[in-house]
Amino acid sequence: MARTALVTGGTRGIGAAISIALKNAGYAVAANYAGNDEAAAKFTEETGIKTYKWSVADYDACTAGIAAVEADLGPVEVLVNNAGITRDAPFHKMTREQWQQVIDTNLSGVFNMTHPIWPGMRERKFGRIVTISSINGQKGQFAQVNYAASKAGDLGITKSLAQEGARFGITANAICPGYIGTEMVMAVPEKIRESIISQIPAGRLGTPEEIARCVKFLVSDDAEFINGSTISANGGQFFV
Ligand code: CAA
Repeated sequence: MARTALVTGGTRGIGAAISIALKNAGYAVAANYAGNDEAAAKFTEETGIKTYKWSVADYDACTAGIAAVEADLGPVEVLVNNAGITRDAPFHKMTREQWQQVIDTNLSGVFNMTHPIWPGMRERKFGRIVTISSINGQKGQFAQVNYAASKAGDLGITKSLAQEGARFGITANAICPGYIGTEMVMAVPEKIRESIISQIPAGRLGTPEEIARCVKFLVSDDAEFINGSTISANGGQFFV
């Protein structure tokens, strides 16, 4: 029977590419989204992948949403924590609200999604968790104290879960995409974006599909012994 995969933020950008790649690889995919109904409806129409609306920043909503997915598709065996937001501002201008929104979604969101799914994975002795961190969680970024902190925190969660889950057949890994050609990156002012691209040895932005292929590998049986690791996919922009 097909394994069930749940992708947060799975209807747009990198998440949409992940949902599609997993569907094409034979998984029963549920794509979560938080706000954009129009994009979600279009995504379902184009891909046939069912979407589920809730905010990963809300623990109770995650519990209810996961229960709805499991009622439709069976236990979640693959969780891709992809949902993420930016609220960029230089630190001296960053508001507490900008800090909190990003931490709530990008960091607490990973806790909120993984915590309700974890007991079932332990019982079934199988689980694959992939969390989409960022190059900016590895190196920091001007105007992203909030985002860099959240994405660095995601790596801490991943490495800890790997140690706790290993004897239950659960792996937890992270991917740190560099700059990918999504709406999030296209929202960066053009001049700054051009200067960022000039710092990428590959000479271009990455594609969502390039990140989706990393996810597909990490959740596969071939990756059983890879646990707690971070794959950097950034065109050579930064080495850890
Ligand atoms: N490096 C160095 N300087 C930078 C900079 C950078 N990356 N980004 C902005 N600056 C500079 C500007 O050139 C400007 O300098 P001057 O005052 O000398 O002109 C100054 O910082 C900005 O000052 P402002 O007070 O005008 O800033 P603002 O309040 O208008 O905010 C901003 C502007 C939101 C920071 C905007 O510049 C911006 O969006 N910068 C890009 C930040 C960024 O790279 N975000 C990554 C998004 S992609 C992502 O997050 C996905 C991922 O995982 C990789």
